[in-house]
Amino acid sequence: MKSVIEKLSKEKSTQWPDFFNVISQELETVEENLLVKLSAKSKLLKEIVSYIFLSGGKRFRPAICLLMAKATGGIKDKHITVSEITELIHTASLVHDDIIDSAKLRRGNETINSLWNDKISVIAGDFLFGQASVKLGELENSEIVKIYANVLSALCDGEIEQYSLLFNPSITMEDYIRKSTSKTASLFAACCKSSAILNNQDLKIIKHCNNFGLSLGIAFQIVDDILDFISNSNEIGKDACSDLKNGVITAPTLFALNSPDERAKQIRILIESRFNNHEKDFNKAIKLVFELGGCEKAKQLAISHIENAKENVSFIKDPELKGCLLTVTEAIIKKLA
Ligand code: FPP
Ligand code: MG
Repeated sequence: MKSVIEKLSKEKSTQWPDFFNVISQELETVEENLLVKLSAKSKLLKEIVSYIFLSGGKRFRPAICLLMAKATGGIKDKHITVSEITELIHTASLVHDDIIDSAKLRRGNETINSLWNDKISVIAGDFLFGQASVKLGELENSEIVKIYANVLSALCDGEIEQYSLLFNPSITMEDYIRKSTSKTASLFAACCKSSAILNNQDLKIIKHCNNFGLSLGIAFQIVDDILDFISNSNEIGKDACSDLKNGVITAPTLFALNSPDERAKQIRILIESRFNNHEKDFNKAIKLVFELGGCEKAKQLAISHIENAKENVSFIKDPELKGCLLTVTEAIIKKLA
């Protein structure tokens, strides 16, 4: 394992996209704190944590949090801590998600459950949650503790909701958006809102920041779900085409299921049969989703949430910071280009 970590260390690039330039120093601090300052005592946990934070991740959430902090009054030490908390919770939830999905790949590298095992992965995810809680305590801000406690509950709620709707073609768009809000957008909203709270902004601005995070997060999940359909594993660094195969019905399938076309019924039957465990049936369902324009309609839905997010940063006066937040927002949809 030492050699894997050494290899990842050498390969690690600290090159951020241009629109992160205005916060690159603070982002470096977040990165260093995640990589070298978490307080694992056991050799094994130290090794796993190094592997996790060396093996990729774009630090998208910390960057949004820092940009919002800078745009609402400036970056304080507590914003750095909130950025770290956000990335720790996000990463912990992915470690657990990979166990649930028996996923083999994450961020272009083997998952913790593949490289070690499920039991160790549960503990490693819990350790990251523990570290997030320690940092939350350090903030000495009960409002932010409450926000993040609600996020942890929402993540579990969203994940269970997804589980209870597996292979259920009667899932509605409302179910899908509610689930995506819980499991993904709640964390984006929390970090944006917390940035404004720490800068003592008024309620109206805090609401805009929260709504920006919510819309951005929903768009992010829809795009992630489209990418699962249209990409291969190399491109997205994780198992591709796995949602529908595992019974997770996302925006592209939902649009296809809701189409008035006769072929929508065929998709419903295939899903209800759980594809009879046959690759052929699964491939047929995927083909029908494409034929009925599921991915294209899902993209339009993502764009509408991107537009919503953009409207919520119109209060920002500094043109450079507003520009950065708009560019980050648009970057989500550009992943589909
Ligand atoms: C990835 O989504 C997963 C999440 C965004 C949330 C997962 C949440 C849990 C496992 C609950 C655990 C939380 C706590 C607080 C114990 P995805 O499966 O759509 O994305 P992927 O394609 O990258 O896997
Ligand atoms: Mg998953």
